[in-house]
Amino acid sequence: MMIDVTEIQPTGVDRFPVRRPLPRAEVEPLAREIFALKKQLNAVILAHNYQVPEIQDIADYVGDSLGLSQQAAATPADVIVFCGVHFMAETAKILNPDKIVVLPDKDAGCSLEESCPADQLAALQKTNPNFYTVTYINCSAAVKALSDVICTSGNAVKIVEASPWDKDLLFVPDENLGAWVMEQTGRPMTLWQGSCYAHVEFRRDSLLRMREQFPDAKVVVHPESLREVRDLADAVCSTEKMITYCKTSPAKQFVIVTESGIIHRMQKECPDKEFLCAPTFDVMRLPTDNCRCSECKFMKLNTLEKVRDCMKQLAPRIELPEPILQRARRPIERMLEISARS
Ligand code: 13P
Ligand code: SF4
Repeated sequence: MMIDVTEIQPTGVDRFPVRRPLPRAEVEPLAREIFALKKQLNAVILAHNYQVPEIQDIADYVGDSLGLSQQAAATPADVIVFCGVHFMAETAKILNPDKIVVLPDKDAGCSLEESCPADQLAALQKTNPNFYTVTYINCSAAVKALSDVICTSGNAVKIVEASPWDKDLLFVPDENLGAWVMEQTGRPMTLWQGSCYAHVEFRRDSLLRMREQFPDAKVVVHPESLREVRDLADAVCSTEKMITYCKTSPAKQFVIVTESGIIHRMQKECPDKEFLCAPTFDVMRLPTDNCRCSECKFMKLNTLEKVRDCMKQLAPRIELPEPILQRARRPIERMLEISARS
């Protein structure tokens, strides 16, 4: 099933484009097969907020990295179909070593994960025995195994606040999220120099123009964005908290500064509100570019067909070496435990 640019539709005059759901005639036969396989396998389908609309629509749960980890930790299903990227499916496997975890496309990676090879992290850790490593969940299982505690964008502030005061905090691998957490907590940290290739495309100039064009809109920004962009935000938060913010805010219009897949849930859950996808370049300088949305090329590798196929074949399957599974589990459990504290 190919997605061509004609399926990227503008949401209105002068609005920025978002992907619209596939036609029902294409979705329904696949959805029927997926539901039958789900029953047969006793499977659960977990999907990230950036997945294409038709995957979100057939999932049992759609959410951010924290919600997905919590769901993975609690599921009674025998098979977890993880519609997201590789590190998310690995996290589900670490929490469920005896279950089958499949990912629709094995190449669904993450630029943050790529930026932090485990051997380089181990070498940095050796330079300071007093380091306490707080690791953003967007990393490999091998990096999780080297960590003291994991965090997501939804709980990073809480996790850092709960970290021991007599330790030197090392935050990996997202320097932008790390810088935001330092601002929020006042705790100094050594930051790994990694970033999300998609979120750093949002820029202050183009966002300022959006504010001029839509002065009543609230600006909601993911903390993987650059500081120049975060500084213009009405709210900085994880994808799940973005949805809660838009639902509970009295505002009717929002500029969303994150991957455009999230707009689908926002439109479904707040049908009376308008969501504008922030452009990833200066709209005044490049007025003829017809794809002005930000899409994560990794998240968008998953399709409904691949979901069906991975359930049929029980592959690509996540497998991890036993020592990594064991060592990576503790920092994830520590995160879940701190997150559950009131
Ligand atoms: P959330 O946990 O906020 O959904 O973020 C995941 C992610 O990969 C953002 O790019
Ligand atoms: Fe990774 Fe960025 Fe894609 Fe999120 S949006 S999965 S951080 S590359």
